[in-house]
Amino acid sequence: MIPRELRLAERMARLGTETAFEVLVKAKALEAKGRDIVHLEIGEPDFDTPKNIIDAGADAMRKGFTHYGPSAGLPQLRDIIAKYVSDTRGINVLPEEVVVVPGGKPIIFFSILALADEGDEVIYPNPGFPIYESMINYVGAKAVPIRLREEMDFRLDVGELAGLINDRTKLIILNSPQNPTGGVLTKADISDIADAIGDRNIMVLTDEIYSRLIFEGEHHSIMSIDGMKDRCILLDGFSKTYAMTGWRMGYGVMRVDLATQVARLMTNSSSCTASFTQVAGVEALRGPQESVNRMCAEFKKRRDVMVAGLNAIKGFSCRLPKGAFYVFPNITRTGWPSKKLADTLLDDAGVAGLSGTAFGNFGEGYLRFSVANSIENIEKALDRVGAWATKNL
Ligand SMILES: Cc1ncc(COP(=O)(O)O)c(C=O)c1O
Repeated sequence: MIPRELRLAERMARLGTETAFEVLVKAKALEAKGRDIVHLEIGEPDFDTPKNIIDAGADAMRKGFTHYGPSAGLPQLRDIIAKYVSDTRGINVLPEEVVVVPGGKPIIFFSILALADEGDEVIYPNPGFPIYESMINYVGAKAVPIRLREEMDFRLDVGELAGLINDRTKLIILNSPQNPTGGVLTKADISDIADAIGDRNIMVLTDEIYSRLIFEGEHHSIMSIDGMKDRCILLDGFSKTYAMTGWRMGYGVMRVDLATQVARLMTNSSSCTASFTQVAGVEALRGPQESVNRMCAEFKKRRDVMVAGLNAIKGFSCRLPKGAFYVFPNITRTGWPSKKLADTLLDDAGVAGLSGTAFGNFGEGYLRFSVANSIENIEKALDRVGAWATKNL
């Protein structure tokens, strides 16, 4: 056979990735060679999905929820999501405004695909979830970063945001609580952001996947602000809140005419979200919520141990994140570039974390550690990083 050149579409060169999955593969390969690795790289709860949700999913399979369903989601799940979002955001959401998708991620993919043309500008947080920048570039739009600064506890500077908005701005992406920094936007921030947008016809993708993981204060959504609902796409889901990352289920809430278009993208891609998963989703939202509060309290304890431990290590300084389950220590005083330090801590100390640059160029000078691991393992990681720093810095 003649070897043929792979002629990829040009746009593939613009597609980014999520480094966490690559570091996980590398860490697993080291483990296969007999190394002991502490995993602080991947962003998923280490808890099991609560039993009532598993039972509901298993039962649904037995009851025949094993077939295709409507592209926008099962009506019973869209109903309860509409009610949940109405209650938690203080707005009136209709079931037709809800699109259920396989994870939170497809809402990022579909919103950008549906709204951003070549030449349009999309403002996104940097450091931030890498899929935003990847998708903006993929569709040929212009990725305009808004830098999140440590001295502002990684909330965005609204004055700076206002300066980035122009006639070509089509979409603004917000994420609170934030990955990777744990920054949380205040009520005043949200209201100032809405003022900065004014009455311009700009859409906001508000990624609130960590909305139930807040350690201090409350969650505030821009969707709650008068006049903003129809210009917002709310992204939320089940992965982080109910420890359901592998079930693949999330949702978007948006005006009906956009919801119809996003459902069309679902028809063209996955057809629908798994039917039994959606039945489990109904139970997640309707059933007892103690497990959510328990997980959040546990993440807070771990965060406190991690931040105190990091601040005692030479070259590291770390702010207390207010939400999500990540810490984002400043490592500039080590004198090491972030990527090299993350690689070295994995290779030499057996601690898997991510370079801040995995979240954009403004992540240089930082590392991200997930605290979705036991206190025992977090302490082990701290001991190892501490010993490495004492020896090498
Ligand atoms: C900010 C943010 N948005 C969206 C997602 C995607 O979540 P899901 O696993 O439900 O697709 C993640 C996952 O890490 C995230 O951190």
